[in-house]
Amino acid sequence: MDIEKLIAKMTLEQKLAQLSQYNAVCLHLGASEDVTGPAKELSLTREQVASVGSTLNFKDAAQMREIQDEHLQNDPNKIPMLFMMDVVHGYKTIYPIPLAMGCSFDTKLMEDCCDMAAKEMATGGVSVTFGPMVDLVRDPRWGRCMETTGEDTFLNCEMSKAQVRGFQKSGKAACVKHYAAYGQAEAGRDYNTTDISERTLRDYYLPAYKAAVDEGVEMVMTSFNILNGIPSSGNKWLVKNVLRDEWGFDGVVISDYMAFEEMRVHGYCATIEDCAKRAIDATSDVEMMSSCYLQKIPELIEKGEVSIEQIDKAVYRFLKLKEKLGTFKDPYLGASTEKEESECLTKEYRALARKAAEKSAVLLKNDNVLPFDKNVKKVAVIGPYAEMVMLGEWACHGSQATGVSLFQGVKNVLPNAQIEYAQGCSHAVNETDCSMVEDAARLAKTSDIVILTLGEHFNQSGEGRSRAELRLSQAQKTLLKEVVKANKNTAVVLFNGRPLVLTDVLDDMPALVEAWQPGTEGGNAIARLLFGEVNFSGKLTMTFPLSEGQIPIYYNNYRTGRPPYQSYSSWYQDMSTNPLFEFGYGLSYTQFAISEPTIDRERMERGKKVKVSAEVENTGERAGEVVVQMYICDEHASLTRPMKELKGYEKIALNAGEKRTVTFEIDEKALEFWSENNKFEAESGWFKVWVALSSNVKTPVRFKLD
Ligand code: NOJ
Repeated sequence: MDIEKLIAKMTLEQKLAQLSQYNAVCLHLGASEDVTGPAKELSLTREQVASVGSTLNFKDAAQMREIQDEHLQNDPNKIPMLFMMDVVHGYKTIYPIPLAMGCSFDTKLMEDCCDMAAKEMATGGVSVTFGPMVDLVRDPRWGRCMETTGEDTFLNCEMSKAQVRGFQKSGKAACVKHYAAYGQAEAGRDYNTTDISERTLRDYYLPAYKAAVDEGVEMVMTSFNILNGIPSSGNKWLVKNVLRDEWGFDGVVISDYMAFEEMRVHGYCATIEDCAKRAIDATSDVEMMSSCYLQKIPELIEKGEVSIEQIDKAVYRFLKLKEKLGTFKDPYLGASTEKEESECLTKEYRALARKAAEKSAVLLKNDNVLPFDKNVKKVAVIGPYAEMVMLGEWACHGSQATGVSLFQGVKNVLPNAQIEYAQGCSHAVNETDCSMVEDAARLAKTSDIVILTLGEHFNQSGEGRSRAELRLSQAQKTLLKEVVKANKNTAVVLFNGRPLVLTDVLDDMPALVEAWQPGTEGGNAIARLLFGEVNFSGKLTMTFPLSEGQIPIYYNNYRTGRPPYQSYSSWYQDMSTNPLFEFGYGLSYTQFAISEPTIDRERMERGKKVKVSAEVENTGERAGEVVVQMYICDEHASLTRPMKELKGYEKIALNAGEKRTVTFEIDEKALEFWSENNKFEAESGWFKVWVALSSNVKTPVRFKLD
């Protein structure tokens, strides 16, 4: 395909339509000469609709084929349309939300799940997924915590690369988002302002997007927010200077939904024309759901404010992607309803989704309640989420019908036991009605064991779902109290898309399992964990605060001149500065001991490495996996450095009684930060290193970089 020749044939309007993306409902032209419905609302003409380059929010293979057929009939250049979708954690087989997947600390597992998602979405005609979402987050009030792998830069980079590898393995395209720093929305309110120094941006927020670029991601989506005063889609420094010129990204940049036009609402652009100019000057290519380019670029070209070369470059990048994905050879890309039926939700995929849910759940508390004995006769499964399949937001074609609830999962694990359910209360965020509690407590009293599901409904986290308070509803708290009063043999299973504040209820919980939103096979996975068929191995990737008042709270904060140990220090008078559960924390059914670390040398020459080791021993009575974590602190530098930063991890499996020495190699790269010289540099001096089983580190070793 000679793309340049094709571009030469296109009119300006056709080029701009190529760079526009609309919902599927906007694309049907029908027989009438007039444009009607959603396309009319967007002021699109028939000719423009006929040449639109891509779509989102379509249903399935059947609709994809219909849209493509109509499009190929109407588009004078016969350029196939590209179909995109938010396949964030699965298409039909839904694996756990990315926040949960992060807790697995298992990049191979993440890659495999994304590979599965890409293969399933291909059957439905999707060739670009709007993922991975790699926004670093330090504020659990933000509803979109569920979409990211958490608060740590190093882990987010590893997971970002794994997702790109997985999504693109079978020839589809990934789109990393939301560039940049969308997760830093002030006060956790979605779409809100972010204001971050360049140093903090470079050190913490940008690396995961860059990791995706380095891994070959095909597309980048700009974010809704303003970053230091400028909306991302029109931020030339961010998109042109950093993403393209510095990082060498030559793929397609797409805006978020209506974000071009929203630059006017932000008060950054006075007119739609201004929006179009800012966006094209920033080298944003594709406009999602608004029509600034279509409406205003022709005038801007006429006035000499935008050049046709700018447009041609954007069209070239987009058509190149279409070519790479194979759209010109097969506009349907093999999508078919039959394949959607036969190649999704296979036994193999379900097993993978189950494994992912097992490995991403985190055991937060266990007063000798778990694992439950499989010989129990009567089990109560209680709570508002017991009978729901907890898929999580952005669950595409995941459904209640094809998924497994925890109630069903328990039945599958214990086919011969008597298993009963009581709802206990509704799932409304601020529910106070406790009228169902009594029945639930009665069931608890007459059962051998109780599994109590609490937390958030899957619609209570996600886009636009910020919360100011992160506590369980009054009804859930009462349910917990009464159920545990009736039966101490209770394990709480928490379903949620963000860290919650559990300080006032933790004492009431004999055992607590963080199940997140575990997806299609969640019920089977959690039941297997509860009854000890598999062991817990997940570790938290976001800090659980004691109170909303501690937010933002994260493990790798900078040091202060007054550490929080005394009055007139960086403390709270009314509570600790420590979290309820720290980053990297998680229990197992076995115990692990870790030795103090050792180091192979005290001096590190430039270009060389040091090795830090620790011996980990499974001191318990059953096999288990544990995430061994390596943290570094730059003791003294030209800029203050954090108390500690994760710079390596390894998940290892040990049988009961088994020991293993885990060694991490530290190179200069691990010591770098965005320095006063405006580049990544490692400064000479002393560093502390810990090898630990959570971010609550103990004794370090030290070395000096010469
Ligand atoms: C808005 C969301 O912010 C983004 O993540 C998503 O990809 C688009 N809508 C398209 O659905």
